[in-house]
Amino acid sequence: MQLRRLKLERFRLVEWAEFPLEKGANLFTGRNAQGKTTLLEAVHYLSSGRSFRTPRDREVLPHGEQSPVGEHFAACQGTCRDAYAAHEVRVAISPAGKTIWLDGKQLRKLTELWGRLNTVCLLPSDLDLVRGAPAVRRSFLDSLLARTRPDVLQAIGAYAIGLRNRNALLRRAHSMPDAEAEAYEQQMAEHGARTIAARQELVSGLEPLVREQMEALAPAGEHIQLHHETGLPARRGSGAEPAHGDAAALAEQLRALWQGNRREDFQRGSTQHGPHRAEIRITLDGHDARAYASQGQARAVALSLRLAEARWLEQATGQWPVLLLDDVLGELDRQRTGYFVRLLSRPGLQSLLTATDVPDFGSKLPIAARFEVQAGRVRRA
Ligand SMILES: Nc1ncnc2c1ncn2[C@@H]1O[C@H](COP(=O)(O)OP(=O)(O)OP(=O)(O)O)[C@@H](O)[C@H]1O
Ligand SMILES: [Mg+2]
Repeated sequence: MQLRRLKLERFRLVEWAEFPLEKGANLFTGRNAQGKTTLLEAVHYLSSGRSFRTPRDREVLPHGEQSPVGEHFAACQGTCRDAYAAHEVRVAISPAGKTIWLDGKQLRKLTELWGRLNTVCLLPSDLDLVRGAPAVRRSFLDSLLARTRPDVLQAIGAYAIGLRNRNALLRRAHSMPDAEAEAYEQQMAEHGARTIAARQELVSGLEPLVREQMEALAPAGEHIQLHHETGLPARRGSGAEPAHGDAAALAEQLRALWQGNRREDFQRGSTQHGPHRAEIRITLDGHDARAYASQGQARAVALSLRLAEARWLEQATGQWPVLLLDDVLGELDRQRTGYFVRLLSRPGLQSLLTATDVPDFGSKLPIAARFEVQAGRVRRA
């Protein structure tokens, strides 16, 4: 996939910028706080309708905006191309909300945008994938499923609604709300079972890709493993996770679990077990990476997860996603540099890279276009 042209209007510190992008590596250089990450953030909006920096869209509205009320919005727009067609995507954000257009047609749901321009971001904050709470790893998995499995995306959404309803019911009811809870549990069981099965399948498929990346980035390093802990309690005595497999059996297991825990959940006012509590535990030579990994190891794991994400999307869709590398180049040692040079040289792979300076190995990088970013202005160098 490829982004041909990018435009920003009143987007954070960028008052206006419009420029074409090349196939291959596009490098953006500039001093700190000039707007480099902001450009990648705009591309992420075109890909997913969201920021990677904040869940609050309003934050991208320019500070100190003096323009008339009707003009008080931020926007980004881009032309993207996959193997089949070109699309024009526009995202406009105002204090009242966000509107997205695809080829001139306003979208009703964010999800209608997904898959048109797949991106994978490598960000300094990716260390959270290793060190952060389980929710970070769950959303890493779910965002991959969202882009490759529309049926699972639907199940994840329906489960979340059922869970919200059950929790609200448990909190507001004065006595055990058996009949109503059971109706929600039934719905949650079906969608929860599909979510668990899909996550399990993805973790199994992703693990060899992550391992391959780890071996390339840190040869002779620790053996990495991913374990999907489903969010269901381990069976008493065995200590084992529940058996997967038959979706109907798993749904029945979930239903029985929630029914059995209803009283306790009612007392606590929330659902204690289920796929919303899942964890993707990452181990290095059997040790939990969250606590055990050194800074360098954690960085290698985070990079490996992101690069595995890119490989997964490439395998699932037949096309490389656009890679957005924010401040990654400056941190690479020699070995990893060689690896990234090869990766970014792959035919059909477009990347947008930011750095304060052209990296030392810049001459080896096949840079197709270089841009200078200064005070929110972008100039082809
Ligand atoms: N909503 C906003 N309106 C105006 N300016 C903003 C807004 N949000 C952030 N900024 C400014 O944008 C600048 C940061 O931009 P950005 O993070 O894109 O820079 P950068 O070039 O990536 O910097 P670094 O090299 O340090 O990562 C900061 O100076 C910040 O104050
Ligand atoms: Mg930055």
